[in-house]
Amino acid sequence: MPRYAGRVHCIYIDPPYNTGNEGWAYNDNVNSPLMQEWLTDKSPVDGEDLERHDKWLCMMWPRLHLLRELLAENGAIFVSIDDNEQHHLRMMMDEIFGAENFVATIIWEKVYSPKSSAKYFSENHDFIVVYARNKEEFKLGLLPRTEEADARYVNPDNDSRGRWKSSDLSARNPYSKGTYEIKCPGGRLIEGPPPGRFWSFSEENFWELDKDNRIWWGEDRNQVPAIKRFLSEVKQGLVPETIWTYKEVGHTQDAKKTLLQIFPENFPDFTTTKPVELLTRIIRLSTGEDAIVLDSFAGTGTTAQAVLALNKEDGGNRKFILTECEDYADTITAERVRRVINGVPTAKDETLKNGLGGSFTYCTLGEEISPEKMLTGENLPNYDTLARHLVYTATGHAPDKIHRARSKDGLFYETDARLFYLIYEPELAFLRSADSALNGDRAERIAKQAKTKHKTAVVFATHKFMGQKELTEMGIVFCGLPYEVVSG
Ligand SMILES: C[S@@+](CC[C@H](N)C(=O)[O-])C[C@H]1O[C@@H](n2cnc3c(N)ncnc32)[C@H](O)[C@@H]1O
Repeated sequence: MPRYAGRVHCIYIDPPYNTGNEGWAYNDNVNSPLMQEWLTDKSPVDGEDLERHDKWLCMMWPRLHLLRELLAENGAIFVSIDDNEQHHLRMMMDEIFGAENFVATIIWEKVYSPKSSAKYFSENHDFIVVYARNKEEFKLGLLPRTEEADARYVNPDNDSRGRWKSSDLSARNPYSKGTYEIKCPGGRLIEGPPPGRFWSFSEENFWELDKDNRIWWGEDRNQVPAIKRFLSEVKQGLVPETIWTYKEVGHTQDAKKTLLQIFPENFPDFTTTKPVELLTRIIRLSTGEDAIVLDSFAGTGTTAQAVLALNKEDGGNRKFILTECEDYADTITAERVRRVINGVPTAKDETLKNGLGGSFTYCTLGEEISPEKMLTGENLPNYDTLARHLVYTATGHAPDKIHRARSKDGLFYETDARLFYLIYEPELAFLRSADSALNGDRAERIAKQAKTKHKTAVVFATHKFMGQKELTEMGIVFCGLPYEVVSG
């Protein structure tokens, strides 16, 4: 969070669906105090005596809160789910993201043939639930135009403006100027729009359009007039619909085939893996070319492959963050990304064979930053990590840049109203010595600097050699480490 809060444009997650046979382990092992708070204080479900759906909700609740914090104001989250938890997920997301930020529930046709063994209906779809962080700010993109869609545009009258499609001239919206009669060039008199409908243009505008050869009267020039919509003038993409067929975005077997190409020697038996095209569509619709995409239930790493594939296609510079808690994070999740970057020599697919390019860093979680571990020296975070953490807890925002010890007094970050100082080295000896204290000389220099800039100085250090009253008079707020690490 200190680095990415408010910065992620697209989050895709594919959590366990809670089908009852996935074998996912209920795990509320979260260390961060904020997560603990979400888990206990504000959680709508009682942590005691959990039944299956409660457990799932308890697992998702703090995670969704955290994800919301990471989303940019114009970002959106896409969640794959099926009917086991779809209704619970919607209610939970209404609560966390706000019902007003619900965008759509997409239906993805995940299988291509019915299962004759189904006891009731043979289910052939999953849902993808979409919420914006702030619907006013979120802009959904368009899909690339398809040949099929373009083929509906023709040019029977050899119009110099190119291919066009005829579209209805009347609409249901009441329009007081839309009731006139029309005489067709072929002689037929049309007394008015069809019952219950209105012409969409005033009489004057209609004949203007006709003068510009934008009205189609049919081959015999005697049909109910229609408006010509030119391909060159329509939106440069298609408005996405809520049903996504396997023909457009692939099905689960396609996803497995991709995995098989990437891991020919040792196919990971992963029934929940998603097709790359499904993810490319989500990312295409919700991100620009410099976006950050996050998937915190990464599995086989499909999301990373989709980001790289889309970057390769449109020259974008999107970045991905994937997290995976199982021990295959390195051998499957990251390994897939390595392979698709470098190319898979045996792959049938040409792009996969040649590699998608790109790079990434593989990280494992270190110790959490906690006052107790800092006191004993068990975990002393480095300067940058601590500095980011302090800014985040103090302001609620992830800092763009930390200027490491920009001055000898430890000025490392500046907002409109405050200057942040951190006197710190990750060594117990230093932290226990007088060198790490806020003393008179330092305080005076800091106060001078703050006064010139008309800002308050916030100083983080292990101890101080001056009284708070004196510091307050100098415009300095002192925050004692390590306790300020949690209280902000
Ligand atoms: C359905 S899979 C994701 C599949 C992925 N979309 C793909 O295309 O390969 C869910 C992943 O979430 C991970 N996960 C993370 N936190 C989890 C938790 N608390 N319980 C269960 N699974 C969790 C699982 O290890 C698993 O890899």
